[in-house]
Amino acid sequence: MASSLETRVALVTGAAGGLGQAFAQRLARDGAHLVLVDIKPCDGTAAMVETLGREAMSVICDITSEESVGYLAAEVQARFGRCDILINNAGIYPIQPFEQITFADWRRVMALNLDAVFLVTKAFAPGMKRRKWGRIINVSSSTLNTVASGYTHYIASKGGVVGFTRALATEMGNHGVTVNAISPSLTRTPGTEGRRPRPGRASMDEEFEQIAKLQPIRRVQMPDDLSGVVAFLASDDSAFMTGQTLYVDGGMVRV
Ligand SMILES: NC(=O)c1ccc[n+]([C@@H]2O[C@H](COP(=O)([O-])OP(=O)(O)OC[C@H]3O[C@@H](n4cnc5c(N)ncnc54)[C@H](O)[C@@H]3O)[C@@H](O)[C@H]2O)c1
Repeated sequence: MASSLETRVALVTGAAGGLGQAFAQRLARDGAHLVLVDIKPCDGTAAMVETLGREAMSVICDITSEESVGYLAAEVQARFGRCDILINNAGIYPIQPFEQITFADWRRVMALNLDAVFLVTKAFAPGMKRRKWGRIINVSSSTLNTVASGYTHYIASKGGVVGFTRALATEMGNHGVTVNAISPSLTRTPGTEGRRPRPGRASMDEEFEQIAKLQPIRRVQMPDDLSGVVAFLASDDSAFMTGQTLYVDGGMVRV
């Protein structure tokens, strides 16, 4: 049975849909109030959270901007006075062969997948440390440990997320704040469904099925396959676990 997050305030980036929406919904079910952050409106996710009887604060924010993240922190402080659980989820995953990646493409991926993780964590980790309780959960990717072409910038950014997770855990461990990451395999979300399939695959449906066949658990991964693990990492049950990256990927990667 899931532990209660009833006194907690959780912030999820990229909460308008996909994994972020599933994480927000699950944390609300476990009792947390939610701050929903995205460059797009989070109305659908907010309605789900409120249906579960929890408060939802939606903030439209480009988290790659230090200034915008500053406003976000001030708004969260004014409304809730704190953020206890931070889910650094927003990310992009363009497929581009290395030769075609421009420096601007590289910077765009790094800005959201890695720099924004730093900016948002920097805004909320000090408060967690002061209050002697916090959970920071970062979203990496199983592509870091598989053979996946066209992803040099993406995999570099997600490797950075794993390094950031380990390093920050070292500094936060003695202050009641844990820092962990999850690494999903290819999961059905608006982002992946709307993507062009890889060369040689007729459709994204075919790509989902082919990846699923490589996993010991041979079905397509769905957002809710991850949300229970996020809820565990957000709870008191995981208090003695930090600096770890959990592969929630149907068994594709063994570390
Ligand atoms: N879906 C997968 O197969 C998969 C696999 C491994 C890892 N991941 C990781 O999981 C995370 C979520 O993936 P998803 O498939 O749900 O993505 P998605 O594209 O469905 O959702 C991402 C959300 O991030 C938001 N966003 C984009 N730029 C932003 C910005 N500058 N500021 C604030 N919000 C912004 C988008 O509006 C969107 O709502 C990403 O970090 C991704 O790399 C996904």
